[in-house]
Amino acid sequence: MENKYSIIGLGKLGCSMAAAIASRGIDVIGVDISKEAVDAVNNGYAPVQETDLDTTIKANKTRIKATLSHTEAILNSSVSFVIVPTPSDERGAFSLQYAKWAFREIGQALAKKDGYHLVVLTSTVLPGSTRYGLQPILEQESGKKCGVDFGLCYSPEFIALGSIIENFLSPDFTLVGEFDQRSGDILEQCYSQFMLNSPPCQRMSLENAELTKVALNTFITTKITYANMLSDLCERIPGGDVDIVTNAIGNDSRIGKKYLKGALGYGGPCFPRDNIALGFLAKELGAQATIAETTHQANIDLVPRIAAQVQNIVSPTDTVAVLGMAYKPHSHVIEESQGAFLAQTLAKSGIRVVVYDPLAAQTVRNEFKDLVVVLDTLEDCLKQAKVFLVTTPDPEFENISAESFGGKDVVIFDFWRMLDNQVTGHSNIRYIPAGRCRDETANERRLADLWCNQ
Ligand SMILES: NC(=O)c1ccc[n+]([C@@H]2O[C@H](COP(=O)([O-])OP(=O)(O)OC[C@H]3O[C@@H](n4cnc5c(N)ncnc54)[C@H](O)[C@@H]3O)[C@@H](O)[C@H]2O)c1
Repeated sequence: MENKYSIIGLGKLGCSMAAAIASRGIDVIGVDISKEAVDAVNNGYAPVQETDLDTTIKANKTRIKATLSHTEAILNSSVSFVIVPTPSDERGAFSLQYAKWAFREIGQALAKKDGYHLVVLTSTVLPGSTRYGLQPILEQESGKKCGVDFGLCYSPEFIALGSIIENFLSPDFTLVGEFDQRSGDILEQCYSQFMLNSPPCQRMSLENAELTKVALNTFITTKITYANMLSDLCERIPGGDVDIVTNAIGNDSRIGKKYLKGALGYGGPCFPRDNIALGFLAKELGAQATIAETTHQANIDLVPRIAAQVQNIVSPTDTVAVLGMAYKPHSHVIEESQGAFLAQTLAKSGIRVVVYDPLAAQTVRNEFKDLVVVLDTLEDCLKQAKVFLVTTPDPEFENISAESFGGKDVVIFDFWRMLDNQVTGHSNIRYIPAGRCRDETANERRLADLWCNQ
């Protein structure tokens, strides 16, 4: 029998998934509690900002329908993906509050349905959440039995904001946590229909899949943080250059080059909360997650350390410019962004801070009010400030040249080492690339002191 699909939660991930599935020529029905989101989708628009989402919805308008009714969606589909928020709670765990609400609605709809239905949880949760937190709600509300009347899977997506549709359709692998074989068989078959690239499917228990999702994210953050540690060391070694070291070790196939670049810390809505959640889980279970806790701590220690370096060189009349407020290029999201944290820390210490971001200006205005001055062009920013922090590797910043500063004395902290060729060798520019030796003489002396008299 042909599967029919519903998506519960038309947010950044859910709506992008609905659009991606529709782009494969498959009908999909979406549900949201927000009337604006439902209306937007039914009118052929994206309810949230995400790359290609608007055009994909428009191009597949006839295949995507949205509703406020969970019952309508469940009765008109055979497989439902649940993609509602799982915000961090005060313990650092992922809250099931929204998921429980959605599962109650789905359970009540299942009570009215004849025939088998597969429920797939896609939201990020910690191990045990699906089986012990959510399955009982489905059984209680529907009066039916999991594994008999309906199936259950946990299957997160490994996507990044800004490339959700592309990542969803061509993943490195799909992850299927299954309550039983029948549930897993159906979901594997769905993915083989959706995906463009025939990725391997990793099938496992619900709990192993829940752990795998958080493990993958926390492993990546550990790699980022490791490169940042090397960056800090290189600044204190004569001739030190983090790119030379990470490029070399990245050649080893056991390590690899991706996410191994000393720069700023990680940010955004997902990565920062995963180490905290893993730490919480480990504590509750009597295990140790020291690596996750240390990674998190090292990441949040970066901003005050850099802010102190900046504060050391600015005089009271200087303006500092932060170039890049989103947590990564091509994004308007400033949640947990290192650039935003830096701007905030410096501004709160009394420094005049101007900021520029190609996409995040409005978000910064809304969140920061008068704390910083948001400028609309890079040129304005370059004119107004004396000290510059380049916090994201946005292609627009590559256009900065020595001439951009009109001959005035400036200091540039370049965390991604993008401006090397353009600005070095100019007497008015003090260029400070992160991860490279900061002071040859002092660093030589330190190493000589360490080894000479041994
Ligand atoms: N955005 C990402 O890049 C990303 C990546 C991986 C995992 N995730 C996970 O996916 C989940 C959703 O993330 P998101 O970024 O799409 O969130 P979001 O806040 O953008 O969207 C969630 C949507 O769910 C809707 N909703 C809430 N309760 C509902 C209910 N009972 N029924 C129907 N709709 C409901 C909300 O109105 C909202 O539109 C989270 O667990 C997140 O951690 C997100």
